[in-house]
Amino acid sequence: MASLSFALVFLLVSSSCLVLDARKPHVVKGMSLTFYKSSCPNVEKIVTDHLRKVFREDIGQAAALLRVHFHDCFVQGCDGSVLLDGSASGPSEQDAPPNLTLRPEAFVIINELRELVHKKCGQVVSCSDIVALAARDSIALSGGPHYRVPLGRRDGLTFATRNATLSSLPSPTSQTPALIAALSRINLDVTDLVALSGGHTIGIGHCTSFEERLYPTQDTTMDKSFAKDLKVTCPKLNYSNTTPLDIRSPNKFDNKYYVDLINRQGLFTSDQDLYTNETTRPIVTEFAMNETAFFEQFALSMVRMGQLSVLTGTKGEIRANCSARNSPRSALSSVVDDEGEDDAFYGESEL
Ligand code: HEM
Repeated sequence: MASLSFALVFLLVSSSCLVLDARKPHVVKGMSLTFYKSSCPNVEKIVTDHLRKVFREDIGQAAALLRVHFHDCFVQGCDGSVLLDGSASGPSEQDAPPNLTLRPEAFVIINELRELVHKKCGQVVSCSDIVALAARDSIALSGGPHYRVPLGRRDGLTFATRNATLSSLPSPTSQTPALIAALSRINLDVTDLVALSGGHTIGIGHCTSFEERLYPTQDTTMDKSFAKDLKVTCPKLNYSNTTPLDIRSPNKFDNKYYVDLINRQGLFTSDQDLYTNETTRPIVTEFAMNETAFFEQFALSMVRMGQLSVLTGTKGEIRANCSARNSPRSALSSVVDDEGEDDAFYGESEL
C-alpha cells in the first residue's frame, strides 16, 4: 500500500513537472538566459535600478517602454530598428503613423540605459536587448509577472519603410479574424494574441485610435455609460485627448483589462472584439477569472514575441548609440556566454 501511494505521488509530481516544462519558453539558437554572464554580469540590475527611479517620477513610462518593445518586434523582428532616427535613405519607422504615438521619452530612457550599461561594461550589450529588459521590468515594476528574458539580440543595420511598418502593426480598428491572421504570419497563435493584448492593462490611447467607435454612430458592443464618458473626453472627431486603456486600474499590471472586456469597456475595436469573437471569448473569460493563468501565459508570449526574427551571432551590430547605426569602423563583436544555464524562468515579481 505504502509503495503504491509512493508511486502515485511520484507519478503526480513527475507529470506536473512535465506540464511546467512544456510551458518553459523556447530559447532560439544564439540567444541565452545568461548571455552577458561574463561580459556584463550586472546589466539586469543596472536596467532595473534606473527604471525604478524613472517610474517613481512617471509610471506612465512603463507603458511607453512596453509598447516600444512590441513595435520593435513586430516590424522586421526585435532588432532595435524602431529606435533609429531617419537618414538619407528615408524617414524612420518612428515617422510611420502607428509609431507617431510612441512616447518620445521612452527613446530617451532607452539611450540613458544604454549609456549606463556601456559605461560599466563597454559596448557589449545591444539596444534591442536593453529594450527587451526594459519591457520586462516595466511589467514587473507595475505589478505584473517577472520572467527571465533570453538575451543575445544584435541591433539591425536598417529600418523598415513606412509601408512595411504600416502593414506589420495591426490596426486598433481590426477585428479578431484579421488579428489572428496577422499574428499567425509571424508564428504567434490565438492564445498569444489574447495574452499579449493584455498589455493594454496599462497605458493610454488617443481619441483618434477609437473615435470610429463613437462617431458617426456608436458601436453597439460598447457599454453605454462608458461610451458617454468617452464622448466627454473626445467630443468630436480628431481630438488629441487621451484616456486610459484599462479604466479599472490604469497603471497597474493586472488582469482587469479582461474584466473590462467582459463589461464591454474595452477601448479599441481590436480589444473588445476579443470578447465578441467566439474563438477568443473563452480565453478572455479564463484570464478575467484567473490572474495567475494570464500572468504565466503573458510571460511565455512575451518571450515568444521577444525572439521574433532576432539577429544573433555576427549578424547586425552592437550600437554605440541606440538612435543611429555605427559608423563602419566602430563595429564590435559580442561574446556569447551560455554555459551554466540556470533554468528557472518564471516567478512572481521579486523586484
Ligand atoms: C494586438 C494588436 C494591437 C493593437 C491593434 C494595438 C493598438 C494600440 C493603440 C492604437 C494604442 C494607443 C495609441 C494611442 O492612441 O496613443 C496602443 C497602446 C498601447 N499598447 Fe497596443 N496594440 C496591440 C498590441 C499590443 C501589444 C502586443 C502590447 C504589448 C505586449 C501592447 C502594448 C500597448 C501599451 C502598453 C500601450 C500604451 C502606451 C502608452 O501609454 O504610451 N499593445 N496599442
